[in-house]
Amino acid sequence: MSVRIIGTGSYLPKKVADNNFLSTIVDTDDEWIRQRTGIKERHLSNGKEGTTYMAAHAAEAALENAGIGADELDLIIVATVSADTYVPSTSCSVQGAIGAIRATCFDINAACSGFLFALHTAHAYICAGIYKNVLLVGVEVLSKLIDWKDRSTCVLFGDGAGAAVVTAADHGREGFVQWSDGAGGEVLTCPGRAVGNPWKENASETGYIQMSGQEVFRFAVKKVPECIRQVTEKTGTKLETIDWFVLHQANSRIIQSVAKRLGVPEEKFPMNMEQYGNTSAASIPILLDEMNKKGMLQPGQKIILSGFGAGLTWGAAQLEW
Ligand code: UT7
Repeated sequence: MSVRIIGTGSYLPKKVADNNFLSTIVDTDDEWIRQRTGIKERHLSNGKEGTTYMAAHAAEAALENAGIGADELDLIIVATVSADTYVPSTSCSVQGAIGAIRATCFDINAACSGFLFALHTAHAYICAGIYKNVLLVGVEVLSKLIDWKDRSTCVLFGDGAGAAVVTAADHGREGFVQWSDGAGGEVLTCPGRAVGNPWKENASETGYIQMSGQEVFRFAVKKVPECIRQVTEKTGTKLETIDWFVLHQANSRIIQSVAKRLGVPEEKFPMNMEQYGNTSAASIPILLDEMNKKGMLQPGQKIILSGFGAGLTWGAAQLEW
């Protein structure tokens, strides 16, 4: 038993904030942000585009692309750190919104690795013969968790949702590795605010995302190549035969460094953080959807997805398209 992604979808909020706009609210500039991160602009929720709203739109797009109905779904897993509510879970709210009446639902929090961890979970359920059709959504409204006075973080993140429909397949080579290191978790934290309009609410500053950027950078460029090698060893695949490396879109310099460390041409590492910033759990499925819509993904291609983030968490998945 194997799994296959048969549909993808995404939703990006309408409002776009470019680097020049951010330079009017903190002491930064377009050149610094672009050179250090590769980010030019990001989409931000208008306050009404909440986590469930964006997730449900991305889910519907993925179902349409897959050509199956919501009532054919057996399981919905939503990966997010920025749910509208603690309860109900975002996955239950999405189920209600799209009418996936047969599906069971739960959320996972593995920060920027969330979509990967959700995919691995779906794989386990499908290969155990428990479920057949699984909807995965990575979604974040990070703008409500950001201190808009902190230039070291507010220029990095964006809002958005990406979704994929995964189903049982009878052939295909795939593998997964996933890791966590709670002892290293203090380098990227968010004590938490669950609700609010990022542009209007006056919340306590202790609730915001805090990050030791350089330490996260060092962690990423070490662990991502390591786990990509681990997953290819697991599947017995030569690195040079991989068609695409779809990485978490945090920073173009991280991706360039990973490509160099692996000795793989950068052209195999598509990037879109220029337009969307770092959308955490949503970044990999948004990029996958973009590649799918552009016709970059062809049947039989070997694809590696890899992410890293708070927790600490990191991992890689190898799939056949
Ligand atoms: O999804 C996973 C989560 N996060 C990440 O993947 C982030 C990983 N880390 C990074 O991407 C990079 O470390 C950053 C982009 C966050 C920062 O880049 P850096 O090259 O590591 O810069 P830095 O933190 O060493 O800061 C260099 C300088 C500092 O000034 P001084 O001390 O040299 O005078 C900062 O105060 O840049 C300053 N700085 C800024 N300047 C203009 C920090 N933020 C900004 C800013 N605009 N927005």
